[in-house]
Amino acid sequence: MIKIYGTKMKPCLTDYLILVNPFHKIPEDYFDGLELVEMRGYDDEVFRVEKEAAQQFCKLQKAAAEIGIEILLSSAYRSVEKQRAIKEEFTAEYGEDYAERFVAEPGYSEHHTGLAVDFVAEIGGRWLIDSKEIIERAGELQPVYDILPKYGFILRYLKGKEEITGYPAEPWHIRYLGDPEIATYITAKGITLEEYKDYEHRHSKEN
Ligand code: DAL
Ligand code: ZN
Repeated sequence: MIKIYGTKMKPCLTDYLILVNPFHKIPEDYFDGLELVEMRGYDDEVFRVEKEAAQQFCKLQKAAAEIGIEILLSSAYRSVEKQRAIKEEFTAEYGEDYAERFVAEPGYSEHHTGLAVDFVAEIGGRWLIDSKEIIERAGELQPVYDILPKYGFILRYLKGKEEITGYPAEPWHIRYLGDPEIATYITAKGITLEEYKDYEHRHSKEN
């Protein structure tokens, strides 16, 4: 059977630069045009990722493996219901404080876009899966961060940008932007998607 994506009014035109953060909720009609594919991740868990982002993540995985770091998905697309379940799970397991800081409110998670993925990495024969350990050893993931833009990804939550993104640094959460040039620009400037979009907005008004 051939699956028809999108609706008559809204064909598949993914807005790869969409901003979803604590102040910008996922638009309700976003899901109409979203084309998801399945990908196997850590522990053989199957995740869903936006089609183009999945293809690029595969290329990123290959390139990372070539420089000695295996990476696998540990989270990807989440429905609003799934985010609610994750928030409850984290609150029960790590406490309200941790869940408040690290887990977005349902409807406000970038994971709803299908363009954000979390990854775990194998370094020196051992899988780094615990978030605390990933934070401590994030420096060892620098070779992966260096090649993200080539495949259209950025590291989304940077240290020192908590006020802007709303979240502490998450060295495992990356975001596909659909354009290596934009990803390269953002990475080189050390800015966030919020800052880039703000700049773009002001720039377009000036012209
Ligand atoms: N951990 C990120 C912020 C989320 O829950 O979307
Ligand atoms: Zn994430």
